[in-house]
Amino acid sequence: MKYDLKQFTLEEKLNLLTGKNFWQTDSANGKLPELFLSDGPHGVRKRANGETLAATAMPSLSALANSWDPELAYASGETIADECIALEADVLLAPGVNIKRTPLCGRNFEYFSEDPLLAGTLAKAYIEGVQSKGVGACLKHFAVNNRESRRTVQSSELDERTFREIYSPAFEIALQAEPWTVMCSYNLVNGVWASENEKLLRGVLRDEFGFNGLIVSDWRAVNHSARAVKASLDLRMPFDAHAYNELKQGLDEGWITEAEIDARVEKLLELVEKRVNAEKKRKSVYTKEQNHETAVRLARECVVLLKNEDGILPIRKGNVAVGSIFALTDLPGRGDFSIVPAIGGGGSALVRTDYKPRPLHQELAERYIGVSDAPNFQHSYFVFGEAYASDTVVLCVGLSEREGYDLDTIRLSREQEELILNTAKYNENVVVVVYAGSAVDMSAWIDKVKAVVFAGFLGEGAQEAVADILSGKANPCGKLNETFPLCIEDTPTGYTQGNGSVELYTEGVLVGYRWYDTKEKEVLFPFGHGLSYSEFEYSDLQIDKKSETDYEVSFTVKNVSNVDGKEISQLYVRDVLSTVERPQKELKGFAKTALKAGESKRVSISLNARSFAFYSPVLDKWYVENGAFEIYVGASSRDIRLAGKIEIALPQKEQYSHPFEL
Ligand code: BGC
Repeated sequence: MKYDLKQFTLEEKLNLLTGKNFWQTDSANGKLPELFLSDGPHGVRKRANGETLAATAMPSLSALANSWDPELAYASGETIADECIALEADVLLAPGVNIKRTPLCGRNFEYFSEDPLLAGTLAKAYIEGVQSKGVGACLKHFAVNNRESRRTVQSSELDERTFREIYSPAFEIALQAEPWTVMCSYNLVNGVWASENEKLLRGVLRDEFGFNGLIVSDWRAVNHSARAVKASLDLRMPFDAHAYNELKQGLDEGWITEAEIDARVEKLLELVEKRVNAEKKRKSVYTKEQNHETAVRLARECVVLLKNEDGILPIRKGNVAVGSIFALTDLPGRGDFSIVPAIGGGGSALVRTDYKPRPLHQELAERYIGVSDAPNFQHSYFVFGEAYASDTVVLCVGLSEREGYDLDTIRLSREQEELILNTAKYNENVVVVVYAGSAVDMSAWIDKVKAVVFAGFLGEGAQEAVADILSGKANPCGKLNETFPLCIEDTPTGYTQGNGSVELYTEGVLVGYRWYDTKEKEVLFPFGHGLSYSEFEYSDLQIDKKSETDYEVSFTVKNVSNVDGKEISQLYVRDVLSTVERPQKELKGFAKTALKAGESKRVSISLNARSFAFYSPVLDKWYVENGAFEIYVGASSRDIRLAGKIEIALPQKEQYSHPFEL
């Protein structure tokens, strides 16, 4: 199927560059099929006749990222795409890969990580999953959109190196999956709106990263259609009555040419063609129950066991009180989180699920049927009052998040903190389950409780997944995709924000663990941290040199416990001596390995030139500087198990003089 530009009048072409309505593309007077675009990352949110249709709520991207597992990201994308087919959505407006620069960002639950490699790798797999079904994906929000307050008017001001090393690589990696569309962000980047930013859209996205598809605006992110066209933005969404006039005026006054309009219309035609040609792939046979099962299976691997003193988990016996305190949120999960857990954040990513979770104490009890001396689970509305009489207390707490607003604290509400502290006064076996979209400051109570399970926003499988972990039916294997700082003041940005028109990214490349490690700051839980009921040992690091900048790093991971489990191993690289300030170390690879009790496996991760390079704005390229690099293999960013060293010696003619002897 091929559409010819010549079929369309100028008027039709101008109209094609904005939507037909809020969600659909225009048909050019019936000459083209209209495409339906639908949110969002955690399940399809198809709007029809003023309401949202029901769909399966999958783990939020921030929870999914705790699995560090591209196969699960693929499965999530595939499952959501299946429902897009059933609900007749053509493009899914997901995933988002913006970097978690501050835990206060109200949209962190929709993003993968503070680390671009982890975010990009998972987004790539997610897109592949979506598009394997003939549904288009939309990589968003390009670029440097890292907070919600004033997101439509504030300029993110950053230097070139920071952009290249932190804020663009997740897009660059995810683009390998060839998403049908990319969405520009609301904010300005260095003074020019992303939607009008030619350097960003045409320069970086198309010319450098090779993106060949359609660039759509975020909803109402275009301020002037002619400027957007100039920057190579194709589709202004939703329908905007100004679009036609601005384009017409742009043509009449010579700002833009008809050839420039045609180039943008071509992209829309190509998108329609992709959709039409994908028809044969769009077969979906599923039941609600099957997709719910997938949601549970994924959620299980996203749970992170942060703390487990005296092996209190899994719960084995005794009287167990399960409860919460009324948490005030207008999202699903309002009230008692042990009855209805918080499963997602608010805004365009809110999925309307029909699934009705069962109370956690019931889910737990079911997992011990037939077990002799099984624990006795009871829900308690006044859980603190029961603390004395119970052997163990499980408390479900959390923080809500929503698009359009940043958080003003990362601490739990005063009521929730008091509940934990008061319960811990009367019971030494307190287990806390936390539902949140990003890092939580637990300093006020972490030392008073035995175990902390970080559920995140797990989607509709939350209750079953958490019950599986608490009961030991499943072995936790998630690890944090972001650092949990001791408090917000310890983060690179603290409480500071932009001044309403400008936000300075003064911390540069030192984002997330790059900041805490370089500044040698203590943290609550480091990036990459997560416990298991198994125990793993690392040994036999081997670094094979393939070329001056290509290496194969391999090591053995052994499950030295009697429980089957999965271990996420992380590979970090440290530039020992550099002419520019570099982070203390950076993640350059990772692998998740399933290991039966007693089993060991060889794990192999490759490194290439980019693993050692920094971006030099002076040279306008990625540059590998000769010298020593340390290679760390760890169970987390602060639990390094094996270390080795390599020397890179590229030909001197490719190098620049170094102020220190190398
Ligand atoms: C969000 C996008 C979303 C769009 C359509 C915007 O407010 O930023 O992520 O896809 O709305 O709902």
